[in-house]
Amino acid sequence: MIGKKVTKALNLQMNREFYNARLYLSMAAYFRAINLEGAASWMEKQSQEETGHAMRLYKHLQERGARILLAAVDAPPTEWEGPLAVFEAAYKHECNVSREFDEHLELARAEKDNATISFLQWFVNEQVEEEASVDAVVQKLKVARDAPGAIFMIDRMLAQRGQS
Ligand code: FEO
Repeated sequence: MIGKKVTKALNLQMNREFYNARLYLSMAAYFRAINLEGAASWMEKQSQEETGHAMRLYKHLQERGARILLAAVDAPPTEWEGPLAVFEAAYKHECNVSREFDEHLELARAEKDNATISFLQWFVNEQVEEEASVDAVVQKLKVARDAPGAIFMIDRMLAQRGQS
């Protein structure tokens, strides 16, 4: 039996993950607009992953017999100063997401909800990868700065991201 507090927290996080999917899709659209197709493709894959995160939460709530509540999703930002600003914003965002999952885990522990503790562990591990993969791009873009040749090389590399 899942408690009310955990149900509320996981519904909140599910809706946040749907926001995350829209945020990354908006970043993809920005990259399409400035003709960085590789970065756009990277962000589209990230957006799909975020929908997958939301659906994991949806499924857990459903399996635990909780009421699933979809909420309005805020409009994401649409403009950034350039590629580095986009990936820096994404990195900051992922650090916040990691904190959100830490808080949910603390709540699940306080509520002695072992099934949710075990479920959330996947996300805690996933966040390590999420932060690292975005930060790796930030570091490359910092080295490239505004050199167009280097930016296009990074864009080609980003096009090769597989679905994970
Ligand atoms: Fe689902 Fe990237 O947080």
